[in-house]
Amino acid sequence: MTYRVTLVEGDGIGPEVTGATARILEAAGAPIEWERMPGGQSAFEQGLEPMPAVTLESIKRNRVGLKGPLGTPKGGGFRSANVALRQELQLYTGWRPVASLPGVKSRYSGVDLVVLRENTQGLYAGIEHEITPGTIVSLKLSSRDAGLRIARWAFEHAMAKGRRKITVCHKRSVLPKADGAFVEAFETIGAEYPFITQESATLDDVAMGLAQDPSQFDVILLQNLYGDIISDLCAGLVGGLGVVPGANVGDRIAVFEAVHGTAPDIAGQGVANPLAVLLSGCLMMEYMGEHRIANRVRDAICTVLEAGKHVTRDLGGTAGSEEFTNAVIEEL
Ligand code: NAI
Repeated sequence: MTYRVTLVEGDGIGPEVTGATARILEAAGAPIEWERMPGGQSAFEQGLEPMPAVTLESIKRNRVGLKGPLGTPKGGGFRSANVALRQELQLYTGWRPVASLPGVKSRYSGVDLVVLRENTQGLYAGIEHEITPGTIVSLKLSSRDAGLRIARWAFEHAMAKGRRKITVCHKRSVLPKADGAFVEAFETIGAEYPFITQESATLDDVAMGLAQDPSQFDVILLQNLYGDIISDLCAGLVGGLGVVPGANVGDRIAVFEAVHGTAPDIAGQGVANPLAVLLSGCLMMEYMGEHRIANRVRDAICTVLEAGKHVTRDLGGTAGSEEFTNAVIEEL
């Protein structure tokens, strides 16, 4: 059986890192036929919307996509291509597993946690007005239904993956209604899962706690903006943005992507680390039930990282993207 998967190469380092991922998955025997679709700044430059309808249709049809990072055209009043993708397809869960990797030096070892970010609401709802010249209002959207559905996803995920604790994160003291609704939805759903330890903590406490001792966390559930920031903080715990994978998941539809952006400072130089998108590709294989292929690729990655000879600059090595990619393929 061959799976058809939508591929959005993206902007900046996107084509380099998605290209590397496609090569490695092919070498691992992944039965994928890519359907290449436009998105981001490059789509805009071809006269399309930053998140074109044809791309959304392709993902809807295939039910699964892999994407590189997308830039959003500046100054045109455009909704971010990523926000549009997540809202249009209701990919309401940002799933970001954060784990230490062998051979990757970082402040902590043995980090193994999951950040779950509500992807469709919060301050990213895009409701912003200039009410009088120079005075802007940005509204934070927080519906009970959105809180309930991601809480359900979080508990089902914890049960399926053997995770023992979920921490819901909030700023309820300053946003009692918006953040209060999110925490209450979590508690409502949580009542059905007494076997999972449940706690709520302020965003400040979670940020400090992660810096001091990440092992105290298992699954962290956050609203959109908080999740965006805490994801990058967590990437910093395990070696940086070059190594953390992710996915945007809705009901029976998912788009896999790294946490990082287009990295304009290194785009086109052949030095970007493909690992974050590659590990997103492994999550995608697992999502499709292809655990054997995902594990093969992960084993090859671990061997290359442990040997330390062909690792990219962000991890302290000297290899370019292609050298790393070839090393993983060789190992496969
Ligand atoms: P960024 O993640 O692109 O870069 C931050 C730093 O991390 C840079 O120094 C970059 O070189 C480094 N970095 C990122 N990925 C790397 C990789 N794979 N290998 C080695 N180094 C890597 O964040 P920034 O600069 O804030 O955003 C740049 C653009 O990306 C913006 O237009 C932003 O809107 C967009 N963006 C898109 C995202 C997406 O499509 N999911 C997510 C985040 C940002």
